[in-house]
Amino acid sequence: MEGKNICVVGGAGYVGLITGLCLSQIGHNVINVDVDHNRISLLRSGVSPIYEQGIDDLLKDNLGAGRICFSSNLGPALESSDVIFLAVGTPALDSGKPDISQIIKVAKQLSGCLRSYKLIIVKSTVPLDALEILLDILGEVGNEGQDFDVVINPEFLREGKGIQDFISPDRIVWGVESARAVQMLREIYEPIISGSSIATFGPDGNTQSRAIPVIETNRPSAQIIKYASNAFLATRISFINELADLCEEVGVDIGDVALGIGYDRRIGHEYLSPGLGFGGPCLEKDLLGLIGLTDNYANRSQLLRSVLQRNDSQVPELINKARNFIGGSFRQKTVAVFGLAFKAETSDVRNSPALKTITLLKHEGAKIHVYDPVAVLDHDDQSDLISCFKDPYEAVYQADVLMILTEWAQFRELDYSYIKQQMSSYNIVDGRNLLEPEVLKKLGFSYVGVGRS
Ligand code: UGA
Repeated sequence: MEGKNICVVGGAGYVGLITGLCLSQIGHNVINVDVDHNRISLLRSGVSPIYEQGIDDLLKDNLGAGRICFSSNLGPALESSDVIFLAVGTPALDSGKPDISQIIKVAKQLSGCLRSYKLIIVKSTVPLDALEILLDILGEVGNEGQDFDVVINPEFLREGKGIQDFISPDRIVWGVESARAVQMLREIYEPIISGSSIATFGPDGNTQSRAIPVIETNRPSAQIIKYASNAFLATRISFINELADLCEEVGVDIGDVALGIGYDRRIGHEYLSPGLGFGGPCLEKDLLGLIGLTDNYANRSQLLRSVLQRNDSQVPELINKARNFIGGSFRQKTVAVFGLAFKAETSDVRNSPALKTITLLKHEGAKIHVYDPVAVLDHDDQSDLISCFKDPYEAVYQADVLMILTEWAQFRELDYSYIKQQMSSYNIVDGRNLLEPEVLKKLGFSYVGVGRS
């Protein structure tokens, strides 16, 4: 198969970068374009601006082989490409609606480049009306099916496992309306659909190939599939968090309950870890997006709103637990915090429950010592009350309580008897149920997790 000439717009962002790198790895000629000049020059010099398993090697190999390049100049990149992936951000506005201004901007530029047929593949999560807007802009200068086609091809990339999820996905979804576009999609994705790409760079050394299911449907269905997938994951998490409350009250361990229900194959084990609630840039945003759609078209998003409400109560509940340990007030108290990222294996702090916890602690007057192995605090979130440490043992010095906020595996390996010697009072609030309660209690800590008896 001959590689296609592909442009990825938003190519220095998380989804765009993984998409561009993986497409180049399976043999396409890719140009990733982004307005972020700093990120583009980093990428050109072979440095990834994001922390992600396997990304440094992928970048080095594909830059070296000349299969990918990076640019801030969108016009020429669009002109020279037959396939355009849109991976620009669609962050939630204050109203909860996604901001589609970047999609509109690119669509306007694209409409000046329709001299030859372009296949436009939308990776960004966009609401139903955004697709209509995109089609209207392109339709003013060209004919759909002849000058261009627009496909909805949602991404299902988990941060930290994005490369694996791209190369070996559970499924591929195409919302597509023309046979020509289907043919091109098949050519672009052939190494992934057939499973042969796994054999060439299998994630985690797994070289077993398997055919990947493709759901070929219309565009609104593909849009709803994306919203529904993230909203369903969010629902599972709120469900297990609600059960965790019950377990605490009746003296039952949520871990046993999750295991007991998870072995039912109709339920499964994933997304049943209780904690601080779901964070990150996607689950809440897409839940809000689906609530917006449901309100618009069906006028009752009862369940989805409860999922959100339940999630909003997780961080305050955890803070209550810490406050109870230290006599009812955080004033003059030091809280050591392990974890800043919204989950382990990423440096991303967007919508991080850990960050929300730190902000609330700060408002209550606590002195906060933060340690995260990778993530750093943005300049805007810094304060006199917050100190960041490069060493976890320094972060706990003279702390009255230690809170575990991200499930980094390395937190399990620390020497907790030494940590106890450093602390002023021996309290641990484990927001991720990461540590062994019995071991810590034996060491003399007061310990509380989420839904643990
Ligand atoms: C999520 C989806 O998993 C991807 O499939 C999707 O493509 C992506 O959003 C997106 O729309 O771009 P991601 O945001 O990387 O991926 O995060 P997840 O791994 O799904 O975790 C989301 C949040 O839920 C995290 O804060 C995590 O700690 C929390 N979580 C997850 C729990 O609290 N409990 C669980 O059992 C699982």
